[in-house]
Amino acid sequence: MIQKCLFPAAGYGTRFLPATKAMPKEMLPILTKPLIQYGVEEAMNAGCNVMAVITGRGKRAITDHFDISYELEHQIQNSSKEVLLQEIRHIIANCTFTYTRQNEMKGLGDAILKGNVLVGKQDPFAVILADDLCVNPDGDGVLRQMIDLYNKYRCCIVAIMEVPKDEIHKYGVIEGSVLEEDVFVVSNMVEKPDNESAPSNFAIIGRYILTPDIFTVLQKTKPGKNGELQITDALCEQAKKGMVLAYKFQGKRFDCGSVEGFVEATNYFFEKENATAP
Ligand code: UTP
Repeated sequence: MIQKCLFPAAGYGTRFLPATKAMPKEMLPILTKPLIQYGVEEAMNAGCNVMAVITGRGKRAITDHFDISYELEHQIQNSSKEVLLQEIRHIIANCTFTYTRQNEMKGLGDAILKGNVLVGKQDPFAVILADDLCVNPDGDGVLRQMIDLYNKYRCCIVAIMEVPKDEIHKYGVIEGSVLEEDVFVVSNMVEKPDNESAPSNFAIIGRYILTPDIFTVLQKTKPGKNGELQITDALCEQAKKGMVLAYKFQGKRFDCGSVEGFVEATNYFFEKENATAP
């Protein structure tokens, strides 16, 4: 059983300045719900109940969001607005939240390494980048799909999607061979390659299942692209020594770290809400 989910949320979110000057990017709302809450709900639906968040300076709003606000509870008790707190109350009642800080932005690999103290050395764990908002209207959420796959193969898994060739330079990219439908055994991984030299058009998005030995690999990994510790480099090492799978998930991913993707997600959820409104 995978019970722990890590949320690296220490980034500065510079693409959303000035909104992110004093507010964490992960707290930007799609309609009325902050991005990170969508991620936590996806993790809960996949069976996780321990949420481990890597934060940084200026991220206190995340901690407060996943805690009881007695003043607010008192204020809206027995009012028509109470229903608006139903989902967050359910999360707080059923999950444990733990936090640690990444003091310097040294890359996603470094953020995950900092998470070692929260997720421990024994158990596999999930990773969600909350600015990648994933939905699957036709079935299980993306993390649920990945945990099902983990239960079959028991190794690290990255979620992938096909992207147009002229956008591949923004992503970590895999090279691999087909294991079963939508599942690849990774033979190589490159972080943000040139469009021309990319080994495929399969881009890694913000969902991972990691086994705890990744921490030892990360400790030995040298800074890579942009001088940052890259999780892609550590996973590439693991792929060469053992097995890493790439999974082409069912559903849709919105890149809410970009303004365009954020607006797209907002429109998607607005239309969905209107379609189901009485
Ligand atoms: P991004 O590449 O989107 O960086 O990080 P960012 O700082 O959040 O946003 P921009 O590019 O400046 O607009 C991808 C994810 O990895 C986390 C971020 O919080 C985000 O969820 N991350 C990245 C860290 O936690 N620490 C890091 O050192 C780097």
